[in-house]
Amino acid sequence: MVEPTGRLAPPCVLVIFGAAGDLTKRLLLPTVVNLVEHGLVGQRLVIVGVTRQPWGHDDFRQVMADAVRTFNVGTLDPTVLESLLPRLYHVRGDINDPATYTGLRTLLAEVDAEWETEGNYIYYLAVPPGLFEVIVDHLGQAELAETTPGATGWRRVIVEKPFGHDLDSAQALVARMSQVFDEEQIYRIDHYLGKETVQNILVFRLGNGIFEPVWNRRYIDNVQITVAESLGVEGRGGYYETAGALRDMLQNHLFQLLTLIAMEPPAAFDPASVRNEKVKVLKAVRPMTPEQVLQQTVRGQYGAGTIDGVVVPGYQQEPGVSPNSWTETYAALELSIDNWRWAGVPFYLRSGKRLTKRDTQIVITFRRAPLRLFADTAVHDLESNVLVIHVQPDEKITLRIQAKRPGTTVTVVPVQMEFQYETLGEASPSTGYETLLYDCMNGDSTLYNRADMVEASWSVVTPILDVWKALPPRDFPNYTAGSWGPAAADMLLQRSNRTWHPVE
Ligand code: BG6
Repeated sequence: MVEPTGRLAPPCVLVIFGAAGDLTKRLLLPTVVNLVEHGLVGQRLVIVGVTRQPWGHDDFRQVMADAVRTFNVGTLDPTVLESLLPRLYHVRGDINDPATYTGLRTLLAEVDAEWETEGNYIYYLAVPPGLFEVIVDHLGQAELAETTPGATGWRRVIVEKPFGHDLDSAQALVARMSQVFDEEQIYRIDHYLGKETVQNILVFRLGNGIFEPVWNRRYIDNVQITVAESLGVEGRGGYYETAGALRDMLQNHLFQLLTLIAMEPPAAFDPASVRNEKVKVLKAVRPMTPEQVLQQTVRGQYGAGTIDGVVVPGYQQEPGVSPNSWTETYAALELSIDNWRWAGVPFYLRSGKRLTKRDTQIVITFRRAPLRLFADTAVHDLESNVLVIHVQPDEKITLRIQAKRPGTTVTVVPVQMEFQYETLGEASPSTGYETLLYDCMNGDSTLYNRADMVEASWSVVTPILDVWKALPPRDFPNYTAGSWGPAAADMLLQRSNRTWHPVE
């Protein structure tokens, strides 16, 4: 056990639908083990897996123990796993069958009494999105969505992305879920908000007095958000064909980064205040007209190429992908935020698969200093100050400034100030889900998406999807695996004499 880093979460039962799947094995169970190891979750946490497998409790325990040994991210303390195993239970059943939920209800009553979990249940929907509604409906019908009158406890539900596939479907899902759960009970997860470097954005912006005064259109020239992946679709071709980069990455992860950079300081650091400010930014993003979609968006798809010396197939050759697929594996957008802070400052967002390397960075380029002072010197050009928040894999913040090169003449060179996260001490290994799960157990939804945020982001993305659907791409594949994406993405910035900030 490690020294506890926070207070113990309240007791609860974590019910996982889809507990035989990858998410549970790779992330959820290793996350719980880490939370136990860090003293953040105690002996009164029970896990109930709901699957179709013909497993008894012991089989489930065995499968989960193997998963934890395989996917655990730290040095596994065997006593932690041993202590957890007796608190793992299995419900076998079809998700469409009401009997599954009556069985679950009976089991919950039993484990609740045995382990004193105080009637607190979290339902984790680790299932394909097509099953969200049916599970939620059945939970409602089985009276598992609310605490029975006079009893103690709470009920919460965690939903994985994608939450809808356009504005209409997202609204329909919001409406359907709200018939069973109140908004306060629904935790829509975005795993980017579990990343340390992402959580640090607000602390960096608002915990330091020097940035806020210059964090606006008067001093900032443009903002760029790049989420580059070198991986392809990794066997998820079937899902990816229905998604594409805009839905899979931009509508959620990149928009979350954008809101953290662009939001106003909240009045307090509580869920309502923070999320009120985030939704205001999303609502201020100007929806594009069809003409603007043609000018301000770029889509791409990778063809075969070489990454790190390894030859990789093109997207259309991936398993589960149509050989004539139109699905974009790359998307770049130029967005405008119509508010007083950001009017006139372009926000460039790009994300793609099979790019040169994995890198997520947020680049804030400031307006240049006037050259006048150096008019009579050899200085012909002054570069802009650039602040880069490196989210992953390098975790650091750099600020590029100008300095005089030592010597008798005035020569100015750009130099870099750098803060590396690792200098704060080695972080304990994590899956990236620890904060999110722990927050849900504590009823803190600050890092989760509220319905209006989801709807606002689909409102921005849907007009783009509509135009893209109406005008099939004629040039796919239009970038080579291992490159930095389609040439048109460079043109997007060149129009205004800008370039993408290079990824180091
Ligand atoms: C997921 C997407 O949400 O995020 C994947 O569905 C993507 O396609 C992944 O690869 C990227 O996450 P990370 O944390 O590796 O940047």
